[in-house]
Amino acid sequence: MAWNWHRPLEAKGVTFTVLTLLTILVGGLVELVPPYFLQGTIDPIDGVKPYTALELEGRDLYIREGCNNCHSQMIRPFKAETDRYGPFTMPGEGIYDRPFLYGSRRTGPDLSRVGGKYPDSWHWIHFRNPREIEPRSIMPPYAFMMESPLDLSLTKKKLEVLHDLGHDYDEAQIQNAAEDARAQAERVAASLRKDGKALSDAEAHSETIALIAYIQRLGTDIRWREAAAGAGGGLGR
Ligand code: HEC
Repeated sequence: MAWNWHRPLEAKGVTFTVLTLLTILVGGLVELVPPYFLQGTIDPIDGVKPYTALELEGRDLYIREGCNNCHSQMIRPFKAETDRYGPFTMPGEGIYDRPFLYGSRRTGPDLSRVGGKYPDSWHWIHFRNPREIEPRSIMPPYAFMMESPLDLSLTKKKLEVLHDLGHDYDEAQIQNAAEDARAQAERVAASLRKDGKALSDAEAHSETIALIAYIQRLGTDIRWREAAAGAGGGLGR
């Protein structure tokens, strides 16, 4: 019979326990220590910038309304997904998403690359009542947001906090947060008016404007639509 080399060890309870502990400790250190010396685990991507003041407000409204309960913002690296939505989501694209909105439910389609897919006026109609665009849609209408004035009283504070957390906003962007948001809102309102929407003054300063600014930003930091169009791909739709 072969000599059972482990027998003498197993027979000595205390020694065995100490040796087991040592083994686990060394194994644990080998796993735990190296990450402390990593500079980062996410590859930075050129062109990925923090949200503008207005987009940030739009994002907060998106969270307030629970849009992320029906819409994911993460394209997985599968052909069926990349054919439908565009290039799969890279970690570096989400560094300014705090909290991230990857989501795990897709009652509606993924929205991570919906920016630029439709004109602003499409979203205006769709948010007023999705059934005006897609008769069978089960998305709720958000017409009330067109009457809710956009609250910019905390915008500066929000940029300040994100700056403290490492988002690279400069001093001017923080100080002018509310004005910048109003200026971008004017541009969204102008594009809606150009498309024939007769906006009232209240509508031009409503929450919907910020929501549209946010939605139109999604997935546009990497210029994939141009690349897809250049390659003759049908990704842009
Ligand atoms: C009950 C689930 C549900 C909720 C909540 C919801 N949606 Fe949707 N959404 C859908 C469905 C289903 C569709 C597809 C049909 C359609 O276009 O209306 C859709 C479509 C969309 C589209 C068009 C996507 C595309 O590529 O064609 C956008 C943009 C959108 N939703 C934004 C939002 C925003 C912003 C909110 C929150 C204010 C929201 N949705 C809340 C279910 C939902």
